[in-house]
Amino acid sequence: MKFAILASVALCLALSALSAEARKNGPPMKHPPMMRPPPKMMAPMFPPAPMGSVVAQAALGPTGTVMSMGKGMVRLVMGPNSMHSLDVMLMGTIPNVTMAHVHVGDNNTAGPVALAVLPYLMALPLSTINPAVSFKGELMFTVPFTSADLAAFSGVAGVTPAAAEASFRQLLSQAMLYFNVHTMMYPGGEIRGNFACVAKDCAPMM
Ligand SMILES: *[C@@H]1O[C@H](CO)[C@@H](O)[C@H](O)[C@H]1NC(C)=O
Ligand SMILES: *[C@@H]1O[C@H](CO)[C@@H](O)[C@H](O)[C@H]1NC(C)=O
Repeated sequence: MKFAILASVALCLALSALSAEARKNGPPMKHPPMMRPPPKMMAPMFPPAPMGSVVAQAALGPTGTVMSMGKGMVRLVMGPNSMHSLDVMLMGTIPNVTMAHVHVGDNNTAGPVALAVLPYLMALPLSTINPAVSFKGELMFTVPFTSADLAAFSGVAGVTPAAAEASFRQLLSQAMLYFNVHTMMYPGGEIRGNFACVAKDCAPMM
């Protein structure tokens, strides 16, 4: 906590130093932030996962030709009693976030949505946050969801929550789930990352 405050103070100082620099050197460059490396990823302090959970993590970043000053870390906790959660930490600068989803696909594929995170568990068809959300610094939030939510997003009519959860867990064990943050600039996704289980073979944490 204290470190986060210090870090944001340091960031403010760095930013004001930058703008002072820009004033000194005449008109500011069009995209000065692009020249700076994105902030270093800190290991986020997520609360401990309940015993028996399957835990996976995804490191989010831009892929392909996307230029982003954003990064992220997401922890997926599949609880033992169909009570699940996503701990999302976004860092850096991301303008106009419109949606965030868990999708089905490998590292290099854009696939269908398995769960809507932003807007929060909004039923299909997909909708966007309106107005879009922009932030600088750190944005951390936790999204609880259940097997019933997975069934609602599965796209399979009449699927039971248990079956939807089983197939979601199987996709996870095959590294076929990724987290994707959509923005106005990059409607197809600005930062993304595939989930990898923390334990070998996606074994539950004891
Ligand atoms: C963000 O949205 C605002 C308002 O629509 C727009 O003026 C601005 O250009 C957008 N910026 C980016 C990077 O998409
Ligand atoms: C895919 O992404 C996962 C999670 O980030 C990573 O562990 C794995 O090495 C990647 N696989 C390939 C083939 O790049």
